[in-house]
Amino acid sequence: MMKNINVIDAISKRSSKRKYLAKPVPKEILEEILKAANMTPSGANMQPWSVYAVSNKDVLDKVGQSVISHIEAGGDVDQFIQYYPLEWVNPYKRRRIKTGSGLYKVLEVDRHDMETRTELWHDNFRWFGAQTVIFVFVDKALIDGAQGPFIDCGAYMQTLMLAAQEFGIDSCPQGSTTEYGKIIAKTLEVPENLALLYSVVLGYEDKGAIQNSYQPERAPLEELVTFID
Ligand SMILES: Cc1cc2nc3c(=O)[nH]c(=O)nc-3n(C[C@H](O)[C@H](O)[C@H](O)COP(=O)(O)O)c2cc1C
Repeated sequence: MMKNINVIDAISKRSSKRKYLAKPVPKEILEEILKAANMTPSGANMQPWSVYAVSNKDVLDKVGQSVISHIEAGGDVDQFIQYYPLEWVNPYKRRRIKTGSGLYKVLEVDRHDMETRTELWHDNFRWFGAQTVIFVFVDKALIDGAQGPFIDCGAYMQTLMLAAQEFGIDSCPQGSTTEYGKIIAKTLEVPENLALLYSVVLGYEDKGAIQNSYQPERAPLEELVTFID
């Protein structure tokens, strides 16, 4: 069912949803979203994204459980790429803390309540209850000494999420899966040449879930943009 929203609406209405209804995304809608995402521009039109669109519950359970079991066994991150800085500096550190604590506040979770925080983290690997997850891989040959495909695949992420908005489909991008990319690649049995960059959960948000009301604010333009007139 098309919503016919304009681009600015789609951009401003999209936000990361972290609880979904057990309602699958129809295959024909998923294909429309993926066709739109395929129109993402990329350097030399190389289209470096190798995409696994997984809606099979058993497979999603298996992938998620493989990560949770690894974490519970005390396993370390097992990734192809390092997404976050090893050393956080301001203003990024401040923004990260503000965003995280804002979500805990909405959920009424004490920041010292490590058990609940761990469960919330593990919710990533339960896909927040969503029925479809898009895993975006890149050929290792393309990122051997080059970073361009990261730019292209980042643009792909946003196109995908905005296209989903058109069909009333909500999303959550996931760098949590980046951290366990090697385990996920192995469980999904993807070819050896592919490295996982990230995933995006797609589905229908649970509108009654308090965490879905959280929309972290952005820094003002003055902080982020230098105009040279
Ligand atoms: C590359 C990337 C990775 C992210 N990883 C996660 C994640 O693993 N889990 C999660 O709940 N949110 C994740 N997010 C969502 C961000 O926290 C969110 O985009 C940010 O706080 C801004 O909120 P908004 O998306 O609601 O506008 C990620 C976002 C991006 C762009």
